[in-house]
Amino acid sequence: MTQDELKLAVAQAAITYVPEKAIIGVGTGSTANFFIDELAKIKHKIKAAVASSEVTAARLRSHGITVLDLNEVSSMPVYIDGADEITPQGAMIKGGGAALTREKIVASVAEKFICIADGSKLVNLLGKFPLPVEVIPMSHAVVTRKLNALGGDARLRMKDDQALLTDNGNMILDVHGLQIADPVALETTINNIVGVVTVGLFAQQGANVCLLGTAEGVKTLQF
Ligand code: 5RP
Repeated sequence: MTQDELKLAVAQAAITYVPEKAIIGVGTGSTANFFIDELAKIKHKIKAAVASSEVTAARLRSHGITVLDLNEVSSMPVYIDGADEITPQGAMIKGGGAALTREKIVASVAEKFICIADGSKLVNLLGKFPLPVEVIPMSHAVVTRKLNALGGDARLRMKDDQALLTDNGNMILDVHGLQIADPVALETTINNIVGVVTVGLFAQQGANVCLLGTAEGVKTLQF
């Protein structure tokens, strides 16, 4: 099976986690896009969605799905999103699509985080995928020095020869070369660096379920 077929399979499996008449949180990325397209097929069964990025909001709306501002929503049964890496314990690296801050905020309101990922995302040790960190623009140099002092190699994410700006108007540092043995502790350490908005470690509040696409079918990991 191709990677896209695996992503489609987990997106279809995630539909069974969408309760009727619910408001659900929706993530960002290529796997989340497959999920949005599947969600469109049952859109009459849900009330609305909360999006983790402008791109996701636009895709949901293009299918005629109502998108609510998170400030109008006090609880959601599920948040469904992809990951760049996930451990057998449910800790994740996210932010490859630069949406980590809104993803973490929307996920924090949901009762369950359902991670949908192809099997290549499952790792025993986080860090081969460069760890995204969203920073306030005026702080990118000082935060880079502090991340490098932790043993990383932080690089400003670029787009069209300019620093990429997130939906929140901030910048992303991608930290290469980390081997993250204790993701909970590193999440706290990086959160405490002044200038950091969000670190793309989702360990303190990781996934509750991971639907993993493999050649043998979709595997369900519960955490
Ligand atoms: C976006 C994310 C995505 O969930 C992550 O990058 C995985 O993306 P994809 O499904 O395209 O592999 O965190 O900020």
